[in-house]
Amino acid sequence: MNRVIKHTGSKYPIIQAPMGWIARSQLASAVCAAGGMGIIETSSGEIDNCKKEIEIMSELTTKPFGVNLPLLFLKDDSMVKFCVKSGVRFVTTSAGDPTKYVKTLKDAGITVYHVVPSLDGAIKAANAGVDGLVVEGTEGGGFKSPVEVGLLVLIQSIKQNIDLPIIAAGGIVDGAGMAAVFAAGAEGIQMGTRFVSSLESPVHNNFKNKIIDSSIDGTYILNKKSKPVIRALKTNLTRDIDEKGHMDMTSLFNIKELYFGGDMEAAPALSGQSAGLINEIKSVKEIIDEIINDFNSKCVSMGNLKF
Ligand SMILES: Cc1cc2nc3c(=O)[nH]c(=O)nc-3n(C[C@H](O)[C@H](O)[C@H](O)COP(=O)(O)O)c2cc1C
Repeated sequence: MNRVIKHTGSKYPIIQAPMGWIARSQLASAVCAAGGMGIIETSSGEIDNCKKEIEIMSELTTKPFGVNLPLLFLKDDSMVKFCVKSGVRFVTTSAGDPTKYVKTLKDAGITVYHVVPSLDGAIKAANAGVDGLVVEGTEGGGFKSPVEVGLLVLIQSIKQNIDLPIIAAGGIVDGAGMAAVFAAGAEGIQMGTRFVSSLESPVHNNFKNKIIDSSIDGTYILNKKSKPVIRALKTNLTRDIDEKGHMDMTSLFNIKELYFGGDMEAAPALSGQSAGLINEIKSVKEIIDEIINDFNSKCVSMGNLKF
């Protein structure tokens, strides 16, 4: 059996990425309704709002959903305790050492996947006792590792060393992408940019349309010599940051004006290279149904290939 489906309890092994302010109940419940796994973010740091969003999820869906815990950004263990208390069954941990909370979460019956951008990170997470890995290639949007390794190379390398189920993230928007990472050894996919540009995504249409208008070279990796390293759409602001070669955290302070006010120059517009593969705003259900149909037909046609 596919281990990601066993662990998430969802119909399809399609996970909606955690994204600060965006990955809340409106988007996550639509993903759950369409057979995927919606994830509630906590990286916004708005812990009380995120707790409310988790409670709302229980009202909006009877399907399983998950929560992301960015370890370095958690001020204390209150969010961990809240997940345990509210019956969350699936957690992804990221940005930090999963050892800190893996036992508490697993003792509460919660499945824990850790987000890794490297083989080293994957080995450490496996040693910490996590149940699976979200493997993020450099193609993806948002906060990135300064070491740029493409998703397919990363999955193959991790598969050679570790037998844990892998959810592949970065650059996937369709059934062909899903089939490619499954062939490499993944058992699930996680998508950020595709879901940001969905009908149910809460972001301003200016952001969705900018993703749709982008080409595959329409993003920069910024701030590689410092922290945080991010991948974002090409705009006047990000061109300046790219030319300077440096970005400080204050550049991200106005990100809500970009996400919800539609000012594309208010902050870097986090996005993956996958923006160049997205041509239309579609509902979450259309996105997931198309991916599954396309994936199934790709598998049949590949099954007929013999050399
Ligand atoms: C707009 C946007 C915001 C993101 N914010 C976060 C975040 O707050 N926390 C996080 O762990 N990952 C964040 N990510 C990364 C995603 O979780 C995911 O790994 C990535 O989007 C996968 O690549 P894709 O965009 O090509 O699908 C963000 C991505 C996007 C596009």
